[in-house]
Amino acid sequence: MNPPAPDVVNLAEHVGSRVGKACGGIELVTNRRGSRVYRLRFPSGDVALKLASHNDDEQGVRDAEHLARREAAVLTHLHDFIPGYLIDSGDVEGGGSWLALRWLSGITPQRLFAPARRGDGSPAQRSNILHATVAVADRMAQLHALGWLHTDLQPAHILLGPTAVDLIDFALAQGPHQLLPDVTYRGGMVHFTAPETAAHILTTPDDQSVVIDERAEVYALAAVLHFAWTGLPPTTYTHDQAPLQDKLKDVAHGRHYDLAAIRPWPWTAFENALHDALRPQPEDRIPSMTRFGEILSSLTRKDPTR
Ligand SMILES: Nc1ncnc2c1ncn2[C@@H]1O[C@H](COP(=O)(O)OP(=O)(O)O)[C@@H](O)[C@H]1O
Ligand SMILES: [Mg+2]
Repeated sequence: MNPPAPDVVNLAEHVGSRVGKACGGIELVTNRRGSRVYRLRFPSGDVALKLASHNDDEQGVRDAEHLARREAAVLTHLHDFIPGYLIDSGDVEGGGSWLALRWLSGITPQRLFAPARRGDGSPAQRSNILHATVAVADRMAQLHALGWLHTDLQPAHILLGPTAVDLIDFALAQGPHQLLPDVTYRGGMVHFTAPETAAHILTTPDDQSVVIDERAEVYALAAVLHFAWTGLPPTTYTHDQAPLQDKLKDVAHGRHYDLAAIRPWPWTAFENALHDALRPQPEDRIPSMTRFGEILSSLTRKDPTR
């Protein structure tokens, strides 16, 4: 394994001075589209170090070098929502920004649903899934009640812990405050983008941010659950390797799989909830995260085999 870059070693030392301990190890977690995440080991609890730099990938965000700084600004506003999460942040010499966050150890919905995808439809499994998904919807509803939207819901941004749900990557979040620096928002991952958002992206210039709402986020969460449950996104793309624009067209047209044909085993009540949360027309869709949570919660009181 390559030794970590000097900028990371310096930042790890800096973070160590903030947490009052020496860093016991540095591991690269992800490196994509101008964003690197490292796990810094500390005896007092690990830290996620996120470094943002310039990005040329068309699927990434313009002005990606501002993302860590912007996320730090979002988290300052969301301090009471995630207490003690943001440890420190700053600029990188020569351009770019960084932030240090408390390391969160939950599992993704993809992992939670793995036994279900493999065929385990036991009442215990269903109950496990429902309690976790209700917890995610409730957490999202709390965020919405504060006037914020995550705007980049995807499986990797939801961490399910034994007692709490953590959302991560608030770099693109939209809320009631003007944030500086701002970045151009052109949707999150295509699989989880609501049809109306896809249509806006396709009909507006690249340098113009699109605005989303709670219903688009209900779609996104349902799409994450669809992906976790079936292994596939809701949209069946004309070509899997098609350019982003073509995939967005398929999303905008609501070209959905027949859930009954791809789900691992029948679960009518859950499938109906997903179906209602994924309706292509926003006015037909479950209108809020609170309502989605209530619907999922009501399933916990139904016959677990239906
Ligand atoms: N606070 C954290 N706790 C645990 N894991 C994290 C944390 N922050 C980031 N990660 C890990 O790093 C990955 C990338 O982080 P993310 O914030 O989504 O950055 P980006 O999308 O810019 O790569 C996450 O999917 C997760 O695996
Ligand atoms: Mg991310």
